[in-house]
Amino acid sequence: MVKAIVKKLMRVSERGLKKVLKISKTGTKILNFIELRKFAFTACNGCFFKYVDKPFRRKTVDRVYCDAFNEVFILAKSLPLKGDIFEFGVFAGYTSLLFAKKINEFRFRDTSLHLFDSFIGLPEAVELDKNSYEFASGVWTEGSMRVCEGLDKYVHKKLAKILPNDRIHVIKGFFEDTLDAYFKNLNKKAKIVHIDCDLYSSSKYVLDFLFKNEIIQDGTFIIFDDWMTSLGNPNLGQRKATQEILEMYPHWSLEKYLNYGIGSHVFIAHDLRVTNVSLEK
Ligand SMILES: C[S@@+](CC[C@H](N)C(=O)[O-])C[C@H]1O[C@@H](n2cnc3c(N)ncnc32)[C@H](O)[C@@H]1O
Repeated sequence: MVKAIVKKLMRVSERGLKKVLKISKTGTKILNFIELRKFAFTACNGCFFKYVDKPFRRKTVDRVYCDAFNEVFILAKSLPLKGDIFEFGVFAGYTSLLFAKKINEFRFRDTSLHLFDSFIGLPEAVELDKNSYEFASGVWTEGSMRVCEGLDKYVHKKLAKILPNDRIHVIKGFFEDTLDAYFKNLNKKAKIVHIDCDLYSSSKYVLDFLFKNEIIQDGTFIIFDDWMTSLGNPNLGQRKATQEILEMYPHWSLEKYLNYGIGSHVFIAHDLRVTNVSLEK
C-alpha cells in the first residue's frame, strides 16, 4: 500500500518535472541524470529492473529474457558441454540474476558464474563507436550506465541467495584491465557467454580474448545482447566486431540459434578443426 502511494507520487512529480524541464537541453540532461539515479536507487533496493522505455515494461522484459534463456539452457543441458557462464556487462545485475536462477533451475551443479563490469559505465569510445547511431543520438556517452558505489558487492550478495558463494565471481574494472589477471589461473572453458557491453570496442576486446585463450570451445553459446544496435548495420557495433573476429580466427564459425527481444541474438560456436571426436571417459 505504502509502496503504491510512493510510486504514484513519484510518477506525478516526474510528470510535472518533465513539463517544466522540457523546454531546455539542460532540462533533458537533468532528467537523464534523475532516470539513472532512480535506476541505481531501485537496483540498490533489491528490485533488479532492466531499464527500458515505457512501452516495453518489466513484465514483458522478464518474459522475453526468461523464455530466451530457457531455450539456451534446455539445449545446453542436453549437450555434452562442460564449462562456466561468463557475462560481460552486468550493470545492476538483471541478467546476472536470471543466469543464477537458471543455473539453479537446470541443476548445473558444477557451473560457476563470472560477471565482469567496470561498474562505472562505458569506457572512452573509439572512432567506430563514436560513429554509431547511439553515440550520435546521445544514448551512449563515456560513463553512461555508471551505477552507485558498492553495487558489485550488492549483486554478489543478491546472487549468493541463489547460488553457493564460491560459484559467483564479480570482477570489477574495465575488461582491458581485468581479464588477463583473472583468467591467468582460471583454466575454465565457457559453456555460455553473454556479451552485453554495448560497444564495438568492448565486444571485440572480449571476443578476441576468449578466442585467443581458447575459452570458447566447440558448442559454446554466445549471446549478443546488442546485435541489432545501430539498426543492425554490419559496419558498426557487435556485428562489425564479430565479423572482424571471424576473419582473425577463420577456423571458427558462428551459427545463429535464436533471436529475442530488441535485437539480441544467440549463436553457437563451431570449431571447424573438429572432425573426429573422442571424449575423455
Ligand atoms: C547494457 S549494460 C549491461 C546490462 C546488464 N546485462 C543488465 O542485465 O542490465 C552494459 C554494461 O557494459 C559495461 N561495459 C561496457 N564496456 C565495458 C568495458 N570495456 N569494461 C567493463 N565494462 C564495460 C558498462 O559498464 C555497462 O554496465
